[in-house]
Amino acid sequence: MQVQRVGVVGAGTMGSGIAEVCARAGIDTIVVDVDDASIARAKAAVHKSIERARKKALLTDEQAEATFAALRYETSLDALGDRDLVIEAIIESEAEKIALFRQLDAICSPDAILASNTSSIPIINLAKATGRPDKVAGLHFFNPAPVQPLVEIINGLTTSEATTAVLEPFCRDVLGKHVIRCRDRAGFVVNMLLVPFLLSAVRMLESGFATAEDIDSGMKYGCAHPMGPLELCDLIGLDTVKAVADVLYSEHNEPLYAPPPLLKRMVSAGMLGRKSGRGFFTYAT
Ligand code: CAA
Repeated sequence: MQVQRVGVVGAGTMGSGIAEVCARAGIDTIVVDVDDASIARAKAAVHKSIERARKKALLTDEQAEATFAALRYETSLDALGDRDLVIEAIIESEAEKIALFRQLDAICSPDAILASNTSSIPIINLAKATGRPDKVAGLHFFNPAPVQPLVEIINGLTTSEATTAVLEPFCRDVLGKHVIRCRDRAGFVVNMLLVPFLLSAVRMLESGFATAEDIDSGMKYGCAHPMGPLELCDLIGLDTVKAVADVLYSEHNEPLYAPPPLLKRMVSAGMLGRKSGRGFFTYAT
């Protein structure tokens, strides 16, 4: 099977970024979210990104127009009945993802592949919620999806080789991404390494060891990271960092994955990073 029609569920930062990547590759793409306000935000984000790419001469005017034309936005999952591949990118909640996979299983054609962009939730638990556990896999994109070249493909215990044999060339040759394969363990490859680093930076700030600016400058200018760990937490969203850390901690039982109190308090306070205008740093909204 060749993937020609893609659906993306969840029009937040990751969902709209993934949809943009697919549309830029010429794939007929439908993005579904629950309400018009979420869709309006996604449209604005995609528009901004495409304009940025056009200004940087990464896209011609014709390619930009073709991208807009390839993207459709809907508020009902029923629009996904003819999709070859549906990528779920809703909030990092196992219960909500399981409920969604159940619905997608009922709506999508029996041949469709259902993938999750989860950073940490077991793929097998999503696969089990469907009648097609061989056609469920993880496709983990990175933020911002149109810029970061990596996709992690996660095989759950029930994912068939035939499914991976469709997903891998699709991500590599059609979307132009660099693909790595991972087993179904919370955090996969990148977050198992990245999250303890981010949490260590939060602990360092919390202990008063160094300022946020100095922690970030240390890693930017000492190790050539494109942004410091605290700015990266703000980009990912502090609620997402905490949710991923919670799942990693409960999976591996290692203190290095435990979310520090400062992170928990900031999430409770609604200081979620860029998307709320304030996290470790402040942003114009
Ligand atoms: N489409 C395509 N490419 C674009 C683009 C767009 N709309 N906008 C920018 N780019 C490209 C630029 O051409 C540039 O590429 P080159 O370096 O080859 O020239 C690159 O992206 C950087 O662009 P800018 O210089 O304009 O932007 P910047 O310097 O402000 O960088 C950033 C912003 C890309 C976010 C950069 O700071 C970065 O890479 N930060 C690290 C992000 C990161 O680590 N993400 C992973 C998060 S973890 C995650 O997602 C997993 C999880 O589960 C939690």
